[in-house]
Amino acid sequence: MPLLERNTTGDPKGLPKVPVPPLKQTLDTYLRCVRHLVKAEQFDKTKAMVEKFGAAGGVGEVLQKKLLERRDKMENWVYDYWLEDMYLNNRLALPVNSSPVMVFPKQTFKDRKDALRYGAGLIRGVLEYKALIDTRALPVEFARGQLAGTPLCMEQYGRLFTSYRYPGLKTDTLKVQMNAASSPSEHVIVACKNQFFVLDVVTNSKPLTEEEILSQLEKITSMAGNEEERSPPFGILTSDGRTEWARARDILTKDQTNRDSLGLIESCLCVLCLDEPSGMKPSDTNRALLMLHGGGQEKNGANRWYDKSMQFVVGMDGICGVVCDHSPFEGVVLVQCSEYLTKYVAGTPSEAGKLASARKLPAPRRLLWKCNPQIQGLFAASGERLQRLVNNLDMEVFQFKDYGKEFIKKQKMSPDAFVQVALQLAFFKCNGKLVSTYESASIRRFRNGRVDNIRSATAEALAFVKSMTDERTAYSDSEKMKRLRDAINAQTNYTIAAITGMAIDNHLLGLLKTSKELNMERPEIFCDEIYLTSNQFILSTSQVPTTVEMFCCYGPVVPNGYGACYNPQPDHIVFCVSSFWESTQTSSAVFAKALNEGLLEIRDLCNAATKVAQDARGQGSGKPHRSGT
Ligand code: COA
Repeated sequence: MPLLERNTTGDPKGLPKVPVPPLKQTLDTYLRCVRHLVKAEQFDKTKAMVEKFGAAGGVGEVLQKKLLERRDKMENWVYDYWLEDMYLNNRLALPVNSSPVMVFPKQTFKDRKDALRYGAGLIRGVLEYKALIDTRALPVEFARGQLAGTPLCMEQYGRLFTSYRYPGLKTDTLKVQMNAASSPSEHVIVACKNQFFVLDVVTNSKPLTEEEILSQLEKITSMAGNEEERSPPFGILTSDGRTEWARARDILTKDQTNRDSLGLIESCLCVLCLDEPSGMKPSDTNRALLMLHGGGQEKNGANRWYDKSMQFVVGMDGICGVVCDHSPFEGVVLVQCSEYLTKYVAGTPSEAGKLASARKLPAPRRLLWKCNPQIQGLFAASGERLQRLVNNLDMEVFQFKDYGKEFIKKQKMSPDAFVQVALQLAFFKCNGKLVSTYESASIRRFRNGRVDNIRSATAEALAFVKSMTDERTAYSDSEKMKRLRDAINAQTNYTIAAITGMAIDNHLLGLLKTSKELNMERPEIFCDEIYLTSNQFILSTSQVPTTVEMFCCYGPVVPNGYGACYNPQPDHIVFCVSSFWESTQTSSAVFAKALNEGLLEIRDLCNAATKVAQDARGQGSGKPHRSGT
């Protein structure tokens, strides 16, 4: 866990502001990123548009000037633009399309009570972790890997348990409870058998002990079992497209009872979903699927409230994890929190909790809902749409066991760049071409920094993958190795540019948004087909490393694309590949097979190069020996 020193400067104001890169640099990089991915005639047209945009006295200069003014005025010039574009304006359903999940190690629960105890431990852990956040006692993190050592912005942590994403007809709204430390939320929502309950976690100014939470969870499970009091599955509505859910929410809020229930959900710390056994084999892939969509309405798909930032899932069959709304924070923050909680639960001195006398607490309240035939119809429609998503998700979690990042470091290569090049090779093996690729790069070195994009389908990667796959030309190992090194250097250089705020995606988005704000006609370069396709990320990738046994995964971001999340470990790499069955262009199993094959081929290439170098050194060092000096 990259938590080093105690926080002395938790305030993001101590960090530099995200820079605005020079216009010419961004435009040149943009052309370099797309040139080898498109036809020459198309590229010439794009080049002309870009040159016109960037010319002295042109539109680009006007927009750049405005962006620089915005940077001066604001804490973070790109934050709102990026948040809207990346998340809030996206109309797709949150499960699979947007919300990442962490899959916890499979638990072996003796019985239901054992599972509830695990859930109680997670909630106690949340209270402890939130106290660390609120008192700014979380140690500041420092960057590792490339350009290690700089402090990182910690403000995403403040949103873990204080945010709620409201659906909107055109755009969602992310609300964060301000001053959460002074007027903290004091309840958790527990979902059980598609019912929702309010669990107060502080009574008489004292947080509940693990034993007290456990006893409340037992009451909840018995209340949820009462068929007569059962409400319809309201949670299913939150799994729908954002506009559909916004429309449904408008209907619900006409009634005071529904408004009260929504208000309690919207102000909770987090949701705990107590899931019924899924009946599925707990393989890595199945656990990932169940975490991503709950298995649809027939299983636990309605036992969720997707707007809430953190939903902990405790399956009675031991399938556990956390589902997140992505808009308030990145996967790396989610990992830190998840690792804290799973270690907390594993190390909880339950005996101490048992000895402490548990208070007699009133039973948790069931959330009440008013339904009518119109609302009843909405459940069926949302349930069907979720089922389509469930049927569509093609997931493959696989552990590449032949080597991990230690082998890669021995080659004096960046493990992240190496994996990215391997992903390009896998894609090329499957499709005979490269496509626009997204890799998230943290810009937390800057004030309120989130991410920018490393466009990994570089020209150098294309040259390398061609040399590895071309059946007509036999490239020598030394040529392939040279191309591999070039590809890795290009990837590493792009990474360094991105994490220092010099990537192009945020900048181009800023220029486009500024033109809208100035009521200008959309500049030609942003109407260009190449610009539009270059923002369709057929390969959407992200490194989410963990230090304990768990993994992160997410779905593809376009109908014909792949999501590829990886977790490099010293001696193995966990890959989570997702795609949609409905696309005839993708197959997660085929991609994973190509990735496995490619990683082995690259290892063999590196080993062959090492052997040649050793032999050469051996011959060289042999000479003086023979001559007796
Ligand atoms: N030779 C030997 N070792 C090398 C090396 C080389 N040429 N290049 C790098 N390494 C080492 C690093 O020192 C580092 O060592 P450590 O494990 O002791 O820390 C390790 O290899 C990993 O470095 P690298 O693989 O280069 O990657 P990185 O850790 O810098 O990660 C990003 C690159 C882009 C993934 C990272 O900067 C980032 O932005 N992460 C956040 C991504 C994110 O937001 N994900 C969640 C999205 S929801």
